[in-house]
Amino acid sequence: MKIARFSRMGFILAAAGSAVGLGNIWKFPYIAGENGGGAFVLIYLITVLAIGFSVMIAEMLIGYMGRLDSVGSFEKLAPQNKGTWKFAGFIGFTGILILTFYSVVIGWIFHYISVALVALPSSVEEAEQSFTQLLQADIGTQLFYHTLAFLSITLVVVKGIKSGIEKMNYILMPTLIIMLIGMFLYAMSLDAFSQALEFMFVPDWSKINSESLVVAVGHAFFTLSLGMASILTYSASLPKTVNLTKTSLIIVGLDTGIAIIAGLMLFTFLFQYGAEPSKGPGLVFISLPAVFYEMGSIGTLLAVIFFVGLAFAGLTSAVSLLEPMVQYLIDRYKYSRLKASFLAGNFFYIIGIFALLSNTQAYSELLTFGSRNLFDWIDFITASVLLPLGGLLISIFIGYVVPKEQVRAALHSSMTDMGFAIWYFFLRYIIPPALIIVMFNLLNVF
Ligand code: PHE
Repeated sequence: MKIARFSRMGFILAAAGSAVGLGNIWKFPYIAGENGGGAFVLIYLITVLAIGFSVMIAEMLIGYMGRLDSVGSFEKLAPQNKGTWKFAGFIGFTGILILTFYSVVIGWIFHYISVALVALPSSVEEAEQSFTQLLQADIGTQLFYHTLAFLSITLVVVKGIKSGIEKMNYILMPTLIIMLIGMFLYAMSLDAFSQALEFMFVPDWSKINSESLVVAVGHAFFTLSLGMASILTYSASLPKTVNLTKTSLIIVGLDTGIAIIAGLMLFTFLFQYGAEPSKGPGLVFISLPAVFYEMGSIGTLLAVIFFVGLAFAGLTSAVSLLEPMVQYLIDRYKYSRLKASFLAGNFFYIIGIFALLSNTQAYSELLTFGSRNLFDWIDFITASVLLPLGGLLISIFIGYVVPKEQVRAALHSSMTDMGFAIWYFFLRYIIPPALIIVMFNLLNVF
């Protein structure tokens, strides 16, 4: 199957669009808040640099060399062990699971754009009440916006790599970056900025336990879109002449930079108005709207920009969550793109409805299993278990299964001998044991 290729810039924007998402602006600030800030941020940064960056190159390489969907690429690069390694390719389906709750959250964001335009809540209590009301009782509104999110995501993927995904990222990513920088500059002018700096960068190790370690490592994968074949699938459409190291560095840099900017901005706003950083998933939907209200008319403007930007960030990631399965259905079963997109799309749409219902008062009991409801289980299992597992498989595959000479040759113009030696060493001896240790920590969490 001949696939349309990304341009070099198009790929960088699409991969950065995938990486920069709800993970950076919605999830990172609230999990950093819940885990006490500084020390957690430090573990996350170390993981991004020591593990994320190397795994990103390895994942890109599988798509770049394989040129097929994730299952096909794994098979092609391990001709001796096709039958076994093809299963590693199924990591591409994790995206559908992530999309179930991701699409619901994009729906909340759509709803909050209208809240920002119509009337912001005038106090944290009111904001908390309306967010709780939306989640626990307002099934209709959530369903409506989840459907809208599902349609927006699926219709872009229907249009394909070039005129769907690449085009979308060309428009949304630069706009998002300008919006964020504008808001960040405003935050810098406020007194609470230094308090936000302190909260994010001064480590308090007493707040760290095995769960925060697992969450920080899982988040490093989640935020970089690693371990589930998004980057792999995009890389199958890379032009042949790209420097993979440089490209990975740009993506990791953009993603990390934006997470830090978003975090500092959010905490500045919160501290400036005396709000709590540890509000959980409701952080940007509860504390923030109330803070925007306090700011007066500039706040309304900021609220609209913020939620529109957040929607952009979410949508560009969501298409990359859907694409791996769609590409698989096209390559393997020769489905048309339209059919493949809607088949995969319906999957996440329907499970997403159950995830949505598991937050509601009426159905939560039915859809809660042990300590978590369905929504939280999917979030936890995908980010903390499946993505690191995908990262482990990718590292082992490139580090041990694909012959070293083949890997070296593919990275010929992307790495010096020295650079290659260090990267390969990490892939073989540092990353797999580190990920296995993290996975053992999971035993304490369950
Ligand atoms: N990286 C995205 C975010 O931070 C989420 C994502 C995960 C996208 C895995 C693709 C693959 O929101």
